[in-house]
Amino acid sequence: MTNFFSEIHESKIFKNEEVLSPDYLPDFLPHREDKIKQIARNLMPAAKGGIAQNTFIFGPPGIGKTHVIKFVFRELEEFSENVKTIYINCWNYNTPISILSKIATDLGVFVQRRGIGKDEVFERVIEFLGKTKKGLVVCLDEVDQLIFKSEEVLYDLLRINQYVKNPVCLVFISNFKDVFVNLDARIKSSLRIEEIEFKPYSVQEMKDILEERVKNAFHSVEEGVTILVANFAVQKGSDVRVGLECLLKAGRLAEVENSDMVKVFHVKKVLPEIKPVKPKILEENISENERTILEILKERSFYSGELYKEYCKRVENPVSERAFRDFINHLLQIKMIKVKEVKKGMKGKTRIISRAKSA
Ligand SMILES: Nc1ncnc2c1ncn2[C@@H]1O[C@H](COP(=O)(O)OP(=O)(O)O)[C@@H](O)[C@H]1O
Ligand SMILES: [Mg+2]
Repeated sequence: MTNFFSEIHESKIFKNEEVLSPDYLPDFLPHREDKIKQIARNLMPAAKGGIAQNTFIFGPPGIGKTHVIKFVFRELEEFSENVKTIYINCWNYNTPISILSKIATDLGVFVQRRGIGKDEVFERVIEFLGKTKKGLVVCLDEVDQLIFKSEEVLYDLLRINQYVKNPVCLVFISNFKDVFVNLDARIKSSLRIEEIEFKPYSVQEMKDILEERVKNAFHSVEEGVTILVANFAVQKGSDVRVGLECLLKAGRLAEVENSDMVKVFHVKKVLPEIKPVKPKILEENISENERTILEILKERSFYSGELYKEYCKRVENPVSERAFRDFINHLLQIKMIKVKEVKKGMKGKTRIISRAKSA
């Protein structure tokens, strides 16, 4: 009998399929060179024992914010041994202790998983930084998730600077420009953040970006494939991940059809299946209570008081009205709901809450 593995041939289509994964970090990020340079200039002092510029990067999803910072971090660590970079996604770490523990662990400082207080972790981090004399740059990605819960950790991170020679440099990333608007004025002024806005790519820019990936992913593609995909990705919210998914699906179809290259008609066939990327992570990270609120809003819009009453009817242990307002604010912040203020009665105002179109 022949071995099944011997019957599987090398792909005629894919040179390297992994290149199309949204997690793949390319060596070259076309059309972000200026931003990369600007961020690099801000962080450079951290490698030289100086005071680096805290930076806030914002812009819509899928346009390279996360990958640019990962790229800059990789380059910075390659460039200098005197600096350590730590990337933290605040969807996964959103309490002061979890963030400080993550920093400690990434620095190589041992912390027990349980039974250790925040102050102790804090002290160990400081002790370590004092010993190594390395500069530290921390990126808090999706920082809205943190600020929404509590800004306490920002105090902690700033407090480190009182004890170490080189101040810790912070990079924040968010889809929302106004994350820091309601921040305590004292923290805001000590952070002295420089804002860098990322704008969506044009069709031509999207084409250049996808072309770079196509070159490394496929053996051969028909002319017209990349521009078609680029146009589609720009139409669907300028998210590069949409383009990558299109290319991957078209490639797989070409393979199934035993074609010798990815053709325009393969792309046309898969386009209807591609949905705008709704960050999966959003769905996974909303709480049970928030899910109930979204369920209720599926039916119709509600006045805020009315919505709270409806919510109380549906759950066994309803939270207080105060905590409920926090859920509403969170859903608003991640753009799952819309809120409109309207006049009610002679003087009063109330809010009408409805589900956002994208939710
Ligand atoms: N200029 C670029 N060059 C190459 N790939 C890019 C570029 N911009 C975005 N991408 C790709 O698009 C995807 C989404 O980028 P990401 O950095 O996660 O976006 P954001 O953080 O803005 O939501 C990633 O797979 C990334 O590699
Ligand atoms: Mg991101």
